[in-house]
Amino acid sequence: MTTPTIILIGFMGAGKTLVGQTLAQKRDVGFFDVDHEIEKAANKTIPNIFSEDGEAAFRDIETQVLQQAVRFPGIVATGGGSVDRPENVAILKQSGATIIYLYGPLEDTIKRLLPEKQRPLLNQKSTLAFFELWQKRDPLYRSVADYVVEIVDKPAATIVNEIINTIDADVATKDLLYLRSQIDTVDRKLINLIAKRMQLVDEVADYKKSYHMPVVQKDRMNQMRAALKNEFSTHSHVEEQMIDELLNLLLKMSIEREREQLE
Ligand code: S3P
Repeated sequence: MTTPTIILIGFMGAGKTLVGQTLAQKRDVGFFDVDHEIEKAANKTIPNIFSEDGEAAFRDIETQVLQQAVRFPGIVATGGGSVDRPENVAILKQSGATIIYLYGPLEDTIKRLLPEKQRPLLNQKSTLAFFELWQKRDPLYRSVADYVVEIVDKPAATIVNEIINTIDADVATKDLLYLRSQIDTVDRKLINLIAKRMQLVDEVADYKKSYHMPVVQKDRMNQMRAALKNEFSTHSHVEEQMIDELLNLLLKMSIEREREQLE
C-alpha cells in the first residue's frame, strides 16, 4: 500500500513545519517542507529570493515545488501563500491528498509572529495589508481543506494527536471533532485567563499587605456578583447559577492564595 499524502496548510506562524515534522515522526513517514525545497531549488534563502528576484519569482518556484509536494508519500508542510494563486488552489484540490488547515484567529497569529523578523511579507506589509491578506486567505484555506484543526495555545504534540484522530475518524464524526477542537481551544484560553487572574490576585495581596488591609472585602464581591448577573441576564448561554458557581470557585481559590501570601 502506498503512503497517503497529508498536506498541512495555514497562515505564517501556524506551526506547519513543527507539526509536520512531529506528525511524520509519529507516523514513521517522510516529511517534505515546501519552503525548504524552494530554498534548495533557488539555492538561496527565502528573504533573498524576495529581495533579489521579487515575490512573483518566489511564487513561480512555489507552484513548481507544490506540484511535486502533492505527490509526496508522507507529510507536507506548505508555505502560508500556497493558496494565493488560483492554479495552486487547483493543484491542491485535485491532488487527492488529505489537506489539513491549521487555523488560528488573526489576533493570535499576530501575537505569534511579532517576535519574528525573518518573514519577508511580515516586514514589507502594512498592518492593514497584513490583515487583508489574512482575510483573503482564510476562506481559501477552508475551501481546499478536508479538515480544520484549531491551534491556539496548543503544543505541537496535542495538535498532532488531534490530526491523527481526525484523519482516522469516519466522515460522520469529522465535524464533531472540529467542534471539539474549538472547545479544547476555549478551555485552554479559560485556564490561561484564570492563571492571569491568579497573577493579579498576587498583586492585590502585595498591595493589601503594604496597606494592612483585610483579605476579604465582602461588599465588593457582592456588588461584582450582582453586576455580572445583571449584565449577562439576557445572554441565552449564561445562567445565574453558572455565574454563582464559577465565582464561588474563583473567589475560593483567590482568597486561599491571598491568605497564604499574607500569612
Ligand atoms: C509566505 C509564507 C512563508 C514563506 C514565504 C511566503 C506567505 O512560509 O513561504 O515567506 O506568503 O505567507 P510560512 O507560512 O512557513 O511562514
